[in-house]
Amino acid sequence: MKKKIVVFTGAGVSAESGIKTFRDSGGLWEEYDVRDVATPEAWAKNPGLVLRFYNERRNQVIDAKPNAAHHAIASLQKKFDVHVVTQNIDDLHERAGSKNVLHLHGEILKARSSVDPALIYPMKNREIKIGDKCEKGSQLRPHIVWFGEAVPNYELGINICHEAELLIIIGTSLNVYPAAGIVHYAKPEVRKFLIDPQDIPHGSIENLTSIKEKAGTGMQQLAERILSGEIVL
Ligand code: OAD
Repeated sequence: MKKKIVVFTGAGVSAESGIKTFRDSGGLWEEYDVRDVATPEAWAKNPGLVLRFYNERRNQVIDAKPNAAHHAIASLQKKFDVHVVTQNIDDLHERAGSKNVLHLHGEILKARSSVDPALIYPMKNREIKIGDKCEKGSQLRPHIVWFGEAVPNYELGINICHEAELLIIIGTSLNVYPAAGIVHYAKPEVRKFLIDPQDIPHGSIENLTSIKEKAGTGMQQLAERILSGEIVL
């Protein structure tokens, strides 16, 4: 049976595809107040602004391409059972060929009902507009987990991480909980790598090697070391 590699990703893995991160200088939360665009209160107060913010994100994602990091992660599937657990709402892991991708914070290319969270629709258009309705007649919203909302895939993410035989963390400030807490469910004896150009305070993750590189270079090099057998699981 193939050994299991879990890759936990954040906005930094898509940065080299031209998608903005959140907390870096020049990041999205410098340009926007999170309370105005990414909370249930914002949706209640000004749905037009919320839709505009996510329509912009969706347009960027559609026009972006997977980068070397997304491809290197997918290449590990040649020899390993790879599971990507991502905080990202883009589909760049899928477009690079990753088969098992769990989205913790939703998916920008889907819309959902604002009255029934089970009604989720793949999007045909680039934009959700005021007046676009679900089959129950309620306004469509982006299929995104907002601040203050539960993370429906959290338990699944924990279970996947707990079964990892190698864990790779890429491009996340590990600031947003509960998602960031998932990495702490990997077994202590399992080898872990963290790829990020910045020093990331990670609390007490055992057996962790930091690779201070951008995702593309860092992940390509790490994938080579894993696939060549230099790093043994
Ligand atoms: P952040 O913006 O908090 O962190 C991005 C991380 O990527 C930082 O640690 C950067 O150093 C790193 N980074 C930047 N460029 C990079 C590159 N080229 N290669 C590798 N790393 C790079 O993003 P997240 O941790 O993903 O949630 O943020 C978590 C959540 O906060 C998001 O899912 C989103 C946001 O608010 C919601 O909207 C619910």
